[in-house]
Amino acid sequence: MQQLQAARAILQAAGGRPGALCVLTGAGMSAESGIPTFRDALSGLWARFDPAELASEEGFRAHPQRVWDWYAERREGVRRAQPNAGHHALADHARRWPGRLVLVTQNVDDLHQRAGNADAIRLHGDILADRWLQTCPRRPACSTPDARPGRPPHCGVCGNLLRPGVVWFGEELPPSALAAARSAAEACTVMLVVGTSGAVWPAAGLVGQARQHGAKVIIVNPAASEIDDEAHWVLRGTAAQALPLLLDDTVPGV
Ligand code: OAD
Repeated sequence: MQQLQAARAILQAAGGRPGALCVLTGAGMSAESGIPTFRDALSGLWARFDPAELASEEGFRAHPQRVWDWYAERREGVRRAQPNAGHHALADHARRWPGRLVLVTQNVDDLHQRAGNADAIRLHGDILADRWLQTCPRRPACSTPDARPGRPPHCGVCGNLLRPGVVWFGEELPPSALAAARSAAEACTVMLVVGTSGAVWPAAGLVGQARQHGAKVIIVNPAASEIDDEAHWVLRGTAAQALPLLLDDTVPGV
């Protein structure tokens, strides 16, 4: 409880200026909404596959139907899920203090957006979006609405395949999202890191970047992560439990 009080005091002292608080979230943010964390997602029937076989262009090209079906199952889970108290605490805080909180997420679900953080910076894309596997050489190019149904859907003219609009292993993050996330990390007074193992870069590097620019770092995670040593405070708790306690009626010391 002492850690929580200390973290609340740091959040309060961060002030109300735009961008004072940068929040970085990972899959643990959505765990209490019933969406398996990334490493848990490879369970059940999918346990026999290596993540790189399912979340990579190479894996998709080798087995398009298998990869498409895995994402279809995950998409169904996202559509059934509801934002949890942690998502709502972040959205409520952003509503109460416009501009103070910049949200950066590694998650590909839409729970932050459905809770009210429509401007969350998506580092790893959107699982509910599709995009073409390759750039169509034709003019006009393949149009997603005209894709022929299938697993995966495809272009009836050039055979291009639709793929999920997420960042796969070995792919670059969207440059504008990464640039915005890095700016937010450098500008914030406090970085709140919630539900990430810190195993995947460059997202994990944002925490050290914030600290190097003078930010205080608070981590919320029920288990140890690879970036715990970057934190000034580590709260061993879950997103849905800790965030309402950390953020509710936190009045920035303005
Ligand atoms: P991971 O699955 O690597 O880690 C999830 C983290 O959430 C772990 O540290 C858990 O301890 C923690 N956790 C579990 N339940 C929690 C809860 N209720 N509240 C808070 N934390 C909880 O997921 P990420 O760190 O997000 O990339 O993984 C980063 C990236 O690795 C993913 O975005 C994905 C994957 O490659 C792409 O999809 C490009």
